[in-house]
Amino acid sequence: MDLFTAMKERRSCRNFLPEPLDEATIEKLLEAATWAPSPLNTQPWEFIVITNPEVKEKIFSEGERCRKWALEKSGWKWLGSYSIDFLQSAPVIIAVIGDPKKSGIDMFTEEGPMGYQAACAAAIQNLHLAAHALGLSSLWFTLFDKKAMREILGVSPEKTPLALICLGKPESLPTPTPRKNIKEKAIYIR
Ligand SMILES: Cc1cc2nc3c(=O)[nH]c(=O)nc-3n(C[C@H](O)[C@H](O)[C@H](O)COP(=O)(O)O)c2cc1C
Repeated sequence: MDLFTAMKERRSCRNFLPEPLDEATIEKLLEAATWAPSPLNTQPWEFIVITNPEVKEKIFSEGERCRKWALEKSGWKWLGSYSIDFLQSAPVIIAVIGDPKKSGIDMFTEEGPMGYQAACAAAIQNLHLAAHALGLSSLWFTLFDKKAMREILGVSPEKTPLALICLGKPESLPTPTPRKNIKEKAIYIR
């Protein structure tokens, strides 16, 4: 698939078929992720591939806990009807774990170590595009408490679970999402 088509057609999927993915496909996706750029080529990512139903159930419970908490705190009504059942139905969830120590030259950042997060985000986007190119769908999920996710996945306190990427075949095609016109988002300094 042409890269520009993949970038334009990829959509977040929130309902997956339970059909498993084979190991070779998962490896192909992981390898695509690792071709992302990173500060000083530190490659600050690690991936945990989750297919175990009991672990998925724990992740789902943690997501539900955070959804309810966020609903109460924010009052955002959409959170009341936002179903996160995809954490149970997606055949594969890949947890992306970042290492804050691998942030490169970050003394110029205002917010502390950011380089590792930026690199992991680039790896996640590669993963999304590779999945789409292989006819799969994906979702970047972040509604969880980092401490709780460390415990569920056995991640050390020095590393950060940044995202859970749900992967599988879509049950139905995701709804297209609009984008603002580039004229609103770009200026030229000539
Ligand atoms: C950093 C980040 C965090 C996100 N977290 C969530 C999430 O927790 N739950 C969810 O359903 N979607 C999440 N998304 C997906 C966005 O909602 C989605 O990308 C956006 O609405 C645009 O839709 P599209 O991906 O179909 O183009 C996240 C995306 C990003 C980049």
